[in-house]
Amino acid sequence: MKNLKTTPRQLTFQLDTKSNNGNTDPRISYNKIPVMKSTFKAGLDQPVHRWFRLTPSFGPDLVREMLVSMNYKKGDTVLDPFAGASTTLIECALNGIDCFGFEINPFLHFVGSTCLNWSVDPSQLENLLCKVKNHFQTSLKFFSITDLGSGKLPIPKIHNPFRWWRKDVLYELVVLRETIKSIDCDKDEKNLLLLGLAAALVPDLTNVTLGRLQLHFIDRDNDNIEVWPTFERQIKEIIEDITTISHGPFGTASLYHTDATNPSIKVPNKANLVITSPPYPNRYSYVWNTRPHLYFLEIFDTPKQAGTLDMKTIGGTWGSATSSLAKGKVEADFPVIDKVVMPVARKIREQENGNLMANYMTKYFNLIGHQITAMEPFVSNDVRIAYVVGCSRLKGVYVETDVMLANLIEGLGLGYKVSSIERIRKRNSGKNLYETIVYASK
Ligand SMILES: C[S@@+](CC[C@H](N)C(=O)[O-])C[C@H]1O[C@@H](n2cnc3c(N)ncnc32)[C@H](O)[C@@H]1O
Repeated sequence: MKNLKTTPRQLTFQLDTKSNNGNTDPRISYNKIPVMKSTFKAGLDQPVHRWFRLTPSFGPDLVREMLVSMNYKKGDTVLDPFAGASTTLIECALNGIDCFGFEINPFLHFVGSTCLNWSVDPSQLENLLCKVKNHFQTSLKFFSITDLGSGKLPIPKIHNPFRWWRKDVLYELVVLRETIKSIDCDKDEKNLLLLGLAAALVPDLTNVTLGRLQLHFIDRDNDNIEVWPTFERQIKEIIEDITTISHGPFGTASLYHTDATNPSIKVPNKANLVITSPPYPNRYSYVWNTRPHLYFLEIFDTPKQAGTLDMKTIGGTWGSATSSLAKGKVEADFPVIDKVVMPVARKIREQENGNLMANYMTKYFNLIGHQITAMEPFVSNDVRIAYVVGCSRLKGVYVETDVMLANLIEGLGLGYKVSSIERIRKRNSGKNLYETIVYASK
């Protein structure tokens, strides 16, 4: 393994019982890691990580930090059961560390597996880019905007597509997508071109802004939106990065498209380190926020698919997931959930219209419990784990996710002991909303 560089952290928080919600859990420590290192922002200028921007991603620097904190040794294998944009796997593979991951969202699985394939020849990709440009320009002359929606230029089957894209922009985007689809090249090269197009889509070429986290629609009628130059910039970054990282040796990395609460796969080696960040119980929907990509890349072609995926995704709360959670009472799936989660759920249920959010939170922790249990066949007997989570507030009730997760991990009866609950930053969306690394081991 190469020398993992980390920046020494400053102890900037004070242990303050008020900001700590009266909690004096001795496992809690406060070690601030700057936003520019801990969040997706850290990846924006780092090779490979910059190929796709997922706002809830953590930073590659944080992955290195966790590897160092867990005393990473040569020969260790890392698992990330909630891979997202595959920050953990990319960083491990770049540092020569073997790793594997799970991801339920088919688009994010496409992003991760494409970002982990560095076998393409960069000069061949450069030539291919020229070829795509020529074909694209010819196709723009051959088709017209009135062909949009015909069999030749099918538009994404998303609800209200012209809310998402300006018609002239969508026309060029679809022509470019069809050009890439029809170009004669190998699958890995094609996937990199499609990844570049997906990465250019949001926020540059779509009528959205990223807001603090979530997509928001904006009016872009008067913006100068340029499809080809934006796409070309993405592909040039990919070419540049493949060229600079070409030295290796890389760790082997495999990303499986599977549900982490019930992974239906076999892996060659067990992991002895787990570095991950599950969704937070904050109603952020990964499915909603990747809808433009899921539909534009034709991974989904009916609105129902997004609702069904959101139901299965931890923390999903959009569309039908919400209506089904509004009814009845979600019960605890594990005795420890009864102890740790149900008292908080009760407080939420007491608030006006609190049942939905009480059910949402119970389902969230039930699924986290199932995921940790289902991970057993994939980890060694001496596994060390690091979960990055965020505290939240539902119906005004404080959900101290980090402490609840720590108690859940210990209370599942799998032999885990929590070593520290390390609060690394306060999220700017509210008071006491810490982002925390929960460390545990067997
Ligand atoms: C916080 S994000 C992970 C971000 C990641 N650390 C990164 O840097 O990009 C959580 C991920 O968990 C995925 N997820 C949610 N429920 C899942 C499940 N049941 N099985 C597998 N993945 C799931 C979501 O689709 C999302 O990509």
